[in-house]
Amino acid sequence: MAVNPELVERAAGWIANSRKPVVFSGAGVSRESGIPTFREASTGLWAQFDPQRLATVEGFLQDPKLVWEWYAYRRKIVAETIPNPGHEAIAELEKLLPGLMVITQNIDSLHQRAGSRAVIELHGNISRVKCFQGDELYENWSDEDYEGEIPPRCKTCGNYLRPDVVWFGEALPEKALMAAFELAENCDLMLVVGTSGSVQPAASLPVVARRRGARIVEVNPTPSEITASSDILLPAKSGEILPEVVAKVKEIKGNC
Ligand code: APR
Repeated sequence: MAVNPELVERAAGWIANSRKPVVFSGAGVSRESGIPTFREASTGLWAQFDPQRLATVEGFLQDPKLVWEWYAYRRKIVAETIPNPGHEAIAELEKLLPGLMVITQNIDSLHQRAGSRAVIELHGNISRVKCFQGDELYENWSDEDYEGEIPPRCKTCGNYLRPDVVWFGEALPEKALMAAFELAENCDLMLVVGTSGSVQPAASLPVVARRRGARIVEVNPTPSEITASSDILLPAKSGEILPEVVAKVKEIKGNC
């Protein structure tokens, strides 16, 4: 679907001239890398799996093995994917606009693997596991290198290990959340990419930014709960439209 070139031009102009730009992303930015989103009708994860059983503390306590294996399956999917042109365009934007920050709801590290260096992960990271009770963290967990009881046990206290991701009903990591809202309150432009805007508190970030006078540019093939707060909606796949937008930003930056 071709996007109105005037919209692309206007969005690129706002982005090129922003002093404090922020990118806020959701599962849609990783869709073209082959990672399913959560709420899309047929392909979304929550259309195939029950989030109450697989993404809550209660679900884990009820069946720790099932939940551990589901995340091991998702780690495998993530490990087999690579960043797509949307992630790469956002990493390019960081080079064009030093100080640009990425706030992501995603747990797949694809922004970082595309080259983005300033990334705030609101919902944790699927490659990291932690002790269910204590603070022990295990970075870059490899299911291939582990043989033994499922779920594995914490070396320090013997409790189960669990994915270091935020489950429904859990608080977001305090530091990440504070930093994200600080950015939303002080940015002058927020580029919202591939989120339905249906999960709080992350979904409030664009609303806070707009209330503080920031311009909101949204990239999503279909309108979302953020669209009402967006100044521009670029109705397209991020992997297709972001390279176009960033090429325009480059042109504008190059000319000044
Ligand atoms: N490019 C851009 N956006 C896309 C693309 C694409 N190629 N394909 C789909 N989308 C959009 C969909 O239209 C939808 O609005 O991505 C959005 C994905 O929405 P969700 O599946 O709800 O994912 P997200 O918004 O990231 O969910 C937020 O909910 O379950 C929790 O923790 C989970 O972080 C997740 C949070």
